Parts: sequence; structure tokens; C-alpha cells
Amino acid sequence: MLDMHCHILPGVDDGARDLSESLAMLAAAKRAGVTEIVCTPHCREPYFDFDAMMDAYDLLVAHADGFPIRMGFEVAWRTLMSIGFDHWAPLLNLDAPSVSGTGKATFLLELSVGTPSSEYPLYYQTIFDLQGLGFDVVIAHPERYAAIQHDEDIARHLVEMGCKLQASADFVDGGRLGRELRPAKRMLRDGLYSFIASDAHRVEHYDALARAMAKYGHLLR
Ligand SMILES: [Fe+2]
Repeated sequence: MLDMHCHILPGVDDGARDLSESLAMLAAAKRAGVTEIVCTPHCREPYFDFDAMMDAYDLLVAHADGFPIRMGFEVAWRTLMSIGFDHWAPLLNLDAPSVSGTGKATFLLELSVGTPSSEYPLYYQTIFDLQGLGFDVVIAHPERYAAIQHDEDIARHLVEMGCKLQASADFVDGGRLGRELRPAKRMLRDGLYSFIASDAHRVEHYDALARAMAKYGHLLR
């Protein structure tokens, strides 16, 4: 099982605090049935430090005993807008792995939780731009976004645009904000998700991944 979204790198965002926690998370991932990990530290204020993240990646790989670990990023839309495509795209072309089987590099895009549906066209434009650059766009945890909780057609539209949707496994326990179980279950049953990922920040999130995959994994596209 691939875990394509997690915060396992030591000391670079609000995930693993040090290498020992990273290694404990890696052990938990293996127990949960994960066979391959893509590290996706936050590219969002105040976390984004590219060099520190690549150093943390090298450190984890050096201690991972050959376990397959690749490097990616979870890019917040707002941060992408402030850095700009010209600087961002070459960076990600180097490192963003393909997780979709299409051979294209994957861009894991995080939207803002409270964005009203009236502003989603801004996101659609960005997604078109990313697709034009050759990326497969994966939308991180749509179940967390208020507009999608209220209107599943937005999620459907994202899928029709060619995006893949990724659920964060802690939805099985209600989710980060406590409102994610119902929308996630609905979108799973409607066949809108392509991935369930741990989005792990701590060891226990891998337990949620095992439970989420056991119960809902068969509903992925
Ligand atoms: Fe995340």
C-alpha cells in the first residue's frame, strides 16, 4: 500500500518532531501495511524551507533500511500563489513523484478550509495551469473544506477536471476539524476518491490509516 501524503520528515513542519519520531512513524506505517511512502512536508507558511526538507529527507532515507521513500510536497494554494509558478514548477518537476500510474509528476494541492464556493474558480484556474505544466493534480483532503462539505458537486467538478481526490485517514475518527466523517463517507460511496492517505503527523495516524483502508479501501476509484 502506498502512503502518498504524510508528514514523516523530522523537524521540518508540524509532523514528526525528530528522527526518533520519524522512525516510530515508519514502523507504524509498516504495521499498517504501508509498503511505500511519499514524504509530503507542508509548503505553507511558516514551514517551507526547501533545503531543510531535502536534508531531512536524506536523513530519513539513510535510516530507513532500504524502505521505499520518495520526496514530494503538500503545497498550499496560497503559498503557490505567493511564490509563483515560475519558481515553483521547476522545483517540483525535479522531485514530485508520479503516484497515479500515468507517469506524470503529481502535484499535491492543499486548498484553504474556509474558502467559499464562489472563490473556487480561482482554484480551477490554478489547476488548469498545473495540468498545463504536465502535472497530475491531487486535491488533499477535500472532506475538510467547508464548501465541499456543503456541496459535493464541487468535488465532482474537480474529478471531472481530471483531479484525483485524496482522503486523509483520520476522517474515520471525525477528522482534524471534527466534521469530516460524513462528507468523506458520502464521497467514498459516490466513488470520488482515488486515494486514502495517512496524512500522518504522529504515530497514531497510521492506526487510522489501517482502519480507513480496511473499511473503505474498496471504494477508491
Ligand atoms: Fe498534510
